[in-house]
Amino acid sequence: MKEQLQQIKNRFDEIVKEAKQLADIENIRVAYLGKKGELTSVLRGMGQLSSEDRPIIGQLANSVREHMEEFISKRSDELKNEALGQKLMEETIDVTMPGVEKSYGSFHPLNQVCDEMKNVFLGMGYTIADGPEVEYDYYNFEALNLPVGHPARDTQDTFYISENVLLRTQTSSVQIHVMENTKPPIKIICPGKVYRADNVDATHSPIFHQLEGLVVDKGVTMGDLKGTLEIYAKSMFGPETKIRLRPHHFPFTEPSAEVDVSCWSCGGVGCRMCKGEGWIEVLGCGMVHPDVLRRCNIDPEVYSGFAFGIGIERTAMARFGVSDMRQFFENDMRFLKQF
Ligand code: DAH
Repeated sequence: MKEQLQQIKNRFDEIVKEAKQLADIENIRVAYLGKKGELTSVLRGMGQLSSEDRPIIGQLANSVREHMEEFISKRSDELKNEALGQKLMEETIDVTMPGVEKSYGSFHPLNQVCDEMKNVFLGMGYTIADGPEVEYDYYNFEALNLPVGHPARDTQDTFYISENVLLRTQTSSVQIHVMENTKPPIKIICPGKVYRADNVDATHSPIFHQLEGLVVDKGVTMGDLKGTLEIYAKSMFGPETKIRLRPHHFPFTEPSAEVDVSCWSCGGVGCRMCKGEGWIEVLGCGMVHPDVLRRCNIDPEVYSGFAFGIGIERTAMARFGVSDMRQFFENDMRFLKQF
């Protein structure tokens, strides 16, 4: 039995020395010192020993067990230290290395321009109205004097949810909602998303943004419209800016005009920004058509109004000198960081 103990001890020493991981140590402990371990089963055989041998072997067995326990705890301390050393080596911090740069977000150029526009009109006492992007044909076309079959519908083809429900092509639809729900005086703007079934190119996108304006009250004139737009243009493009109204046709306003502002880059002489024109087109506008008012139960004999619609992408492109609209939607950080 003495030899057996000695053998067990030697084998034990051998494998403990070779153990490379803490988990191995635990397995060894169980294999030798556990309930069914090798040393334990030897000790169980002690009962068969003579009374003289028993204390001797007992003492030996105890010292083997003590040795095993000590050795195991020593080796596992070693392994723990090795693991810690390894970890520290791998995790060395080089304080001279450049830090990780935190990049902060910024407002998208379209939001920046839209916020500026809103501020100009809020400063003139307008409030902000909202309307649905998924819209009835009636609000987007019919109520705005664009009945089924009207040729101007062709220029605003869109995405249809059903025959009567579509994605709005213009924020002008909000004019109708507001006039149906509010009695004059009305003085609102509505910034929002609009949709058209256009192919993507440098100046077209199936999704873009407009800012609509509507004023309805007694005695509102084209002079009020022009004065309002002058303030808008000077606030947005600089105090020297002049505006020019060119007669145009929109079905829901009469008379209607397209509005140009004098080029803020050359002051109107002609340059690359304005393509040599001296003027840059920025919006459409007009006096609200009497039929549109009537449809919303507003008496055109008592009230009159003006409306305007501004393209936000177009304004941002002009403002920042961006020549390709697609850049606003591509989420390229190199582009967006410039604003
Ligand atoms: N809704 C027009 C468009 O998308 C723009 C417009 C023109 C809006 C004249 C108006 C307006 O309110 O009076 O082309």
